[in-house]
Amino acid sequence: MIDPEIGFTSDVIKDSNRFVGRTELLRNCIKSLNTPLSLIGIYGKRGVGKSSLARQVQQIAIGNTRSLINAGLEYEIPQSQRKYLTVYYQCDSMIENTEELIRRLLNDQNEEDGLLRLVPNEGKEIVEFERADELSGGVDLKVVNWGAKGVESSKYAKVVENDVVQTFRNFVNAIVTHQVKKKMKREGLLIILDEFDVIKNKSGIGSLIKSLSSDTVKFAVCGIGDDLFELITDHGSVERLLEEGSLHVEPMPTFESQEIIYRAEKLFRGEIEFNESVVSEIANISQGYPYLVQLIGKECVHKANELRLKLVDDHVFGQVKIDISSGKAFPTLERQYLRAIGQSEDRKKLLYILASQDEDRTMFDTEVGKLVLKKARRDADDLEIKNIDQLLPRLIDQTFGPALRKVPDMKGYYEFVNPVFRVYCQLRHL
Ligand SMILES: Nc1ncnc2c1ncn2[C@@H]1O[C@H](COP(=O)(O)OP(=O)(O)O)[C@@H](O)[C@H]1O
Ligand SMILES: [Mg+2]
Repeated sequence: MIDPEIGFTSDVIKDSNRFVGRTELLRNCIKSLNTPLSLIGIYGKRGVGKSSLARQVQQIAIGNTRSLINAGLEYEIPQSQRKYLTVYYQCDSMIENTEELIRRLLNDQNEEDGLLRLVPNEGKEIVEFERADELSGGVDLKVVNWGAKGVESSKYAKVVENDVVQTFRNFVNAIVTHQVKKKMKREGLLIILDEFDVIKNKSGIGSLIKSLSSDTVKFAVCGIGDDLFELITDHGSVERLLEEGSLHVEPMPTFESQEIIYRAEKLFRGEIEFNESVVSEIANISQGYPYLVQLIGKECVHKANELRLKLVDDHVFGQVKIDISSGKAFPTLERQYLRAIGQSEDRKKLLYILASQDEDRTMFDTEVGKLVLKKARRDADDLEIKNIDQLLPRLIDQTFGPALRKVPDMKGYYEFVNPVFRVYCQLRHL
């Protein structure tokens, strides 16, 4: 039996040996990490690989250049690469506003990624550690013992009652002085905020980031958005900071999706192999979403195990396709699917029509992915689906997903909330 997880994962990619492609984006990462004053903004659709890229930014920042070497970018690494200590925080939708975000950062006790771990404090024991992979060249700090006293007792970083912003500044300054400069002899502190888009009210955050950014403190924000300005609301204040570090993560080109499978074959060390035709087909049907490549790859290994084979050929893949199109392969996506269609055969057909509507590439770039209801009506007519107006509401209803949302300011336009789900709706009709 071969463990599919050796080669494939549906988790965020932390290990740079599993990270595939994204050469241009990585090139921009090195540039902006080596620019003393700039903000890094990572944006794109759900499931395209933003968090995985953000984790590579973290790796590069601590001096692990493996992903760069794998991407053939070794020559782009400056002799005196700027190195950082890093903080990584994943936001969630319970965070109402900027102040709440700062409060969360101040209290995050994550021992490998949290800000608090770096605040110099008596009794706290911090050790160097290497992130994720064996070949890593970089080290970061992690806490092995929080010490007996709370942070309040720190003689290096003063907590200011009722003023989280000032406390945050004090913490950051203490970290830069004692940990970044003195202890680790680095150039700066990098604070990465993932899922930044879910913070409800982001007003004031741009100017706060701007006032804190310096040649020793850099921020990276990562989240869903068609453009960076959608991600950062009061962008006026950070516009200039963003000139270098804007990273738009788009669906992967087909050859990079294929590369995920070739990389997996390497990780399996020849224990299992894929036929070239299968590799191409997986890359094609995944439509640039690495998450689906990983999921389908995993399924192929499961199936090969089941059939006691070491080669995923057209026959094995044929079986996998049957499992996918019958809804057996991916339970999480299937649950979403069933919830959206709500036992209506007609709605199932409508969802398929919507999911496979040609993306009109003659329109502006940002319009790719938008669906036109009028066009769907015509197709539905041809298939004799009745009452679109009764079928549609469930698809945009919060309680059932929602699968779709209206595109603001564009009458009659919809889009899939989750593009991976859109592709799944097509795969159900393989
Ligand atoms: N560069 C990559 N190489 C290989 N797999 C990737 C890559 N980027 C993303 N993935 C896969 O796709 C999944 C979704 O990526 P993730 O970074 O979580 O996307 P996002 O944050 O945009 O939703 C990951 O769990 C991982 O399995
Ligand atoms: Mg993410």
